[in-house]
Amino acid sequence: MTQHDRLLIIDFGSQVTQLIARRLRELNVYCEIHPYNRVDEAFLRAFAPKAVIFSGGPASVYWQDAPMPPKGVFELGVPILGICYGQQVMMHCLGGHVEGGHGTAEFGRAFVTPAAERLPLLEGWFEGGTEQVWMSHGDHVSKIAPGFRVYGTSPNAPFAITADPERHFYAVQFHPEVHHTPKGAKLYENFVRLAGFKGDWTMGAYREEAIRKIREQVGDAKVICGLSGGVDSSVAAVLIHEAIGDQLTCVFVDHGLLRLGEAEQVVTMFRDHYNMPLIHADESDLFLGALEGVSDPEVKRKTIGRLFIDVFQKHATEVGGAQFLAQGTLYPDVIESVSFSGGPSVTIKSHHNVGGLPEKMGLKLVEPLRELFKDEVRALGRELGLPQSFIGRHPFPGPGLAIRCPGEITREKLDILRRADAVYIDQIRRHGLYDEIWQAFAAILPMRTVGVMGDGRTYDYALALRAVTSVDGMTADYYPFTHDFLGETATRIINEVKGINRVFYDCTSKPPGTIELE
Ligand code: XMP
Repeated sequence: MTQHDRLLIIDFGSQVTQLIARRLRELNVYCEIHPYNRVDEAFLRAFAPKAVIFSGGPASVYWQDAPMPPKGVFELGVPILGICYGQQVMMHCLGGHVEGGHGTAEFGRAFVTPAAERLPLLEGWFEGGTEQVWMSHGDHVSKIAPGFRVYGTSPNAPFAITADPERHFYAVQFHPEVHHTPKGAKLYENFVRLAGFKGDWTMGAYREEAIRKIREQVGDAKVICGLSGGVDSSVAAVLIHEAIGDQLTCVFVDHGLLRLGEAEQVVTMFRDHYNMPLIHADESDLFLGALEGVSDPEVKRKTIGRLFIDVFQKHATEVGGAQFLAQGTLYPDVIESVSFSGGPSVTIKSHHNVGGLPEKMGLKLVEPLRELFKDEVRALGRELGLPQSFIGRHPFPGPGLAIRCPGEITREKLDILRRADAVYIDQIRRHGLYDEIWQAFAAILPMRTVGVMGDGRTYDYALALRAVTSVDGMTADYYPFTHDFLGETATRIINEVKGINRVFYDCTSKPPGTIELE
């Protein structure tokens, strides 16, 4: 058990509960998220939180079987912060009233005005008058509970911020954890300060805790890990290796769709530098053979996904008796697989992962990064001593260059693409732009165009350059390179890469585009 102060987040099912945890980790506060129906009085006693947060959620307090907080939580004597549904349920339990129906819903940006009385929770707020917040609620509080007073109102939420400062119970109608509430982080900072947290929970502590949990979960069983060379699976592998040593074997499937020098880099780093048992499965003939003549993006993705599983399974059995499969699943991967409306969502692309394998092979999953966001994984990687050049690498998709080669894939095109991409990335690095960009890559277009080089005619491939900024890959803006940069890069590529005679820059953001071309 950790000796750090602990904060308990009781989850009522909000889409953004993990963001609360993230805001708290940014404040070096240790927290755990537990669903409301798994927390009872005994759990509360054992967990001994120094503060509690009730998340938002989709329910209404007057539904039959509405989610309720555990008995005894208000008697713990610790500060409680209720957010959105968390506010409503708090009011409901403590003697206030909540209403729903027409005209009470509010979604999107709102502005909160302060009340005359100041609240320490709101230190740093309202310096410029009102504060922008993000609302997302169907019901609203119509009467606050005894002991509570109002500290902020918005046009549609007269009880936007309420508190019983004596008991340290705070309740807000909006979501302070999302970026659209610009001062939200300050509110959490004030809350944990009022609760007396020392703020001593660091990535170092996270690492120790993660290692302890991996050992506990795995015991002396064997684990296999699909290593892609990307940051996530690499950090997961190094962390798990630190926890259980050679009980871990990594399988690196080279599908022939990697970038220039990539396979060598991965093998050198993991096998030679980290001394990890690593199976390097060179299966490029198999994959490229199966992709011959395939031009439909979904067929490509599905073919690669299916073969990947087959190959992985074939090599994983060599390990013999593995009971666990390790994956570098991140939190955004977890939420992206859940539809916002709760209903089935449209499949834009069949993302490639090793899904399906665990059931097929009777494996259990080890996913030590499941709660983390990309930048937190990078911080953990740094903590584990992975080189910065590796940690800072742009994401690279599982299907690799296949989805950067729209239309039919040939070895010739892949070879041209690899060399052009290397020049483009080199240009970006030379200009010191690599770390400003979320992801940059070249794609070879399924067309040839006419050009003139020296005194001769050329009839070669056209190349598209892509570069985007993003926080999580779910939305993205194209990167505004200067014309000088673009001109210089196009010239270098055409001069240095035989087979390309025309270069385009893709100025599409996401949406409406996607980051990859397929
Ligand atoms: P899109 O093209 O969907 O990409 O806007 C969003 C982010 O996801 C990456 N991507 C993938 N990553 N397997 C992965 O591991 C995949 O099948 C896959 N498809 C896209 C893409 O590179 C970008 O970072």
